[in-house]
Amino acid sequence: MTDDGRDIETEIETETTAGEAAVESEAEARWAVAIVGAGVIGRIHAEAVRRHPKLRVGAVVDPDAVARRQLAGQIAQAEQGAAEAPPAEFATLPEALAAGGIGLVAVCVPTGLHAAAVTAALAAGVHVLVEKPIDVSLPEARRLTALAEEAARRGVLCSVISQHRFDPASAAVAAAVKSGQMGRITSAVASVAWWRGQEYYDSAQWRGTWALDGGGALMNQGVHTVDLLAWLLGRPVEVFAHAAMLAHEGIEVEDVAVATVRFASGALAVLHATTAAYPGLSVRLQVHGTTGSAVLHDDQLEYFHVARHGAGATGGPYGGAEPDNQASRVVPASEVRGNVKAADTFVVGHLRQYEDVVEAIQTGRPPAVTMRDGLLAVALVRAVYVSSTLGRPVDINALLAGDHDDVAITVASGGEREPGA
Ligand SMILES: NC(=O)c1ccc[n+]([C@@H]2O[C@H](COP(=O)([O-])OP(=O)(O)OC[C@H]3O[C@@H](n4cnc5c(N)ncnc54)[C@H](O)[C@@H]3O)[C@@H](O)[C@H]2O)c1
Repeated sequence: MTDDGRDIETEIETETTAGEAAVESEAEARWAVAIVGAGVIGRIHAEAVRRHPKLRVGAVVDPDAVARRQLAGQIAQAEQGAAEAPPAEFATLPEALAAGGIGLVAVCVPTGLHAAAVTAALAAGVHVLVEKPIDVSLPEARRLTALAEEAARRGVLCSVISQHRFDPASAAVAAAVKSGQMGRITSAVASVAWWRGQEYYDSAQWRGTWALDGGGALMNQGVHTVDLLAWLLGRPVEVFAHAAMLAHEGIEVEDVAVATVRFASGALAVLHATTAAYPGLSVRLQVHGTTGSAVLHDDQLEYFHVARHGAGATGGPYGGAEPDNQASRVVPASEVRGNVKAADTFVVGHLRQYEDVVEAIQTGRPPAVTMRDGLLAVALVRAVYVSSTLGRPVDINALLAGDHDDVAITVASGGEREPGA
């Protein structure tokens, strides 16, 4: 209930009535968020929610009583003295929804369980922010996207986490691409060169399984970069790929994936994602156009150059006449590669996306990251797996239309090893 005795759900429903832009006053109560899944990312969501002036953690949902109690206890301690009650605890989402008062559900369960949670929350008319990727399977991702679009018509929002779209460095590159400053975008090189030891895969039973993780290095770790690639280069139309499991045992999914991607604009990209690059290096995304180039490196801006600030390429036959790095002109110093990043960038990334979601709910606009964006990212990843399995290029539109839904993915793990390896 709010201070003046109104039910929060009624309040949010009123605020999101189509066409009505709501103006909130500081005095109104914070919306109750249910954190569903009190694991690694659930804890990040809880902290981001706590830092948002319009939100509070209203419930923690997890069948694991220890995990749930620990997170609810941490929140209660941090919020000592707050006007609202400490978070309620529930073993299941339906119980939490039945108890009422939840304004937004944050889905932080293993990926293969996203669909059930999103479906239950949207059916209850509650706004949703679901972790990436939206689901393990393309048919489920399609179904959730349709559900979200139907919910939007009822004023209920559903967005998918892609926190790196909100990094100042990515935002600066996107602004340059979308305003035309970089000219025609011609190509990109994306690489996620990480290491995950067997202990990582053993840390939870769902990790590294097709049923609950939906894939490996590309689906779990690489999907952020896949989303950034599609965000910056537009709609992907064709993929040719190889995927393999070379460094791990006891997992089902790929630990190396490489692909070439052709986009509707004609732009071409190279994609590489691995959890087999010891000791774990970085994430790098180079984007190149006819009047500029940019390099994102571990979420910071390593390089940024637009010719005469977009006026046209002036560098002569070899292009090097004015290759200065303009990165520090377009992002704050902390976002330039090499400078020290804040210790809490993980929480801050999620907080930025919560800010977007809250503003979208309040104004009735779509969220910055839609479920259709999430569907496209899952489709691109699935296209890599299907192409690798079939040994031929995959048309993304056909894949999205269901052409390859029945392909059983296989991942090569053989090959000749170098002597001594
Ligand atoms: N955005 C990011 O940077 C990021 C980072 C890590 C994970 N993730 C995503 O977050 C999701 C969870 O990953 P994680 O690493 O936090 O996993 P985790 O294993 O650490 O935590 C999952 C939690 O969900 C709980 N759970 C299982 N079934 C449940 C149910 N039916 N209802 C409620 N809770 C349930 C488990 O008990 C566990 O506590 C995955 O989809 C993953 O891809 C995103």
